[in-house]
Amino acid sequence: MLVPSKILLDHALKNKYCVGAFNVNNMEQIQAIMQAASETLSPVIVQASRGALKYSKMIYLQKLMEAASIDNPEIPVTIHLDHGNSLATVKEAVALKFTSVMIDGSLDETGKIPNTYEQNVAVTKSVVEYCHPLGITVEGELGTLGGIEDGVGSGKVQLTDPDQAVQFVKETGVDSLAVAIGTSHGAYKFKVAPKLALDIVKTIHEKLPNLALVMHGSSSVPEELVAIVNKYGGKMPNAKGVPLDQIQSVIPHGVAKVNVDTDGRITMTGAIRKVFVEQPEKFDPRDYLKPAREALAKMIAERMKAFGTAGHAKEIKQISLEEAKKFYE
Ligand code: G3H
Ligand code: 13P
Ligand code: ZN
Repeated sequence: MLVPSKILLDHALKNKYCVGAFNVNNMEQIQAIMQAASETLSPVIVQASRGALKYSKMIYLQKLMEAASIDNPEIPVTIHLDHGNSLATVKEAVALKFTSVMIDGSLDETGKIPNTYEQNVAVTKSVVEYCHPLGITVEGELGTLGGIEDGVGSGKVQLTDPDQAVQFVKETGVDSLAVAIGTSHGAYKFKVAPKLALDIVKTIHEKLPNLALVMHGSSSVPEELVAIVNKYGGKMPNAKGVPLDQIQSVIPHGVAKVNVDTDGRITMTGAIRKVFVEQPEKFDPRDYLKPAREALAKMIAERMKAFGTAGHAKEIKQISLEEAKKFYE
């Protein structure tokens, strides 16, 4: 069953683990995520950005995401809109039966210019008012991440202010909140040593202990995966992500959802490059997409274990959006 992310995040928050939210654009990525979830018995969030929906012509990706849950009935799966930029985009996702949405009101509709606090509250509130009567979970964002990924991101960093976070949650009624605590999108997150603003996340969690926090830009960009890309003709110098132990350090402080996209991209690219270099005679896409899918499933299963998600699928009572409406009555 496709479930609202609220039930996954509330369970994760209560049991001090976090759920991986993995970005998808195609069938192989969705299958890899579900293979990992099924092997490790992990609840999972499969998410699509606006770019992903555009690339796949929406309905194709939505049907694949739906297939993920039909094929894995024992796994609670959420299909989530990542970085929704307006109420109109959210309405498109809702029409496609998404069970969870993010409205990224930290930036304007173009995704490039930071919004004011008031603009953020206004757009986020309009999405909450639209989604909650339908049982759909809403993630908001306060503060801005650095890094630019396919046009998403202003490039400017504004860490989340904990007092403003309290006010924001009160004014908007969001179910979960993406916080800016030093991560950024993409493969080049840090110029020097990676460092998260642990004090900020701790303070927000103390002030909002029942709110699931979300950490975007949570790819670890492991050296060994980047090395495969570079070994087989890629060029990713000085790529740096958030080490797993730093992700683990924020989980006890309310971070219940971590977003991972870049690591999947690197993993697949490395596996595909390897086939192209070692077996240049191959030209059937299955010959390189299969190893890419296998490498991705392995990487994601490792993350599910590291995030503490593994084994929790069975503990979560799967509910429909219809049943989720009662959360908001
Ligand atoms: O936060 C952004 C995600 O990494 C999605 O990236 O817009 O290139 O699909 P995308
Ligand atoms: P990464 O670029 O670190 O994978 O972040 C993904 C993300 O935050 C998607 O919303
Ligand atoms: Zn993001």
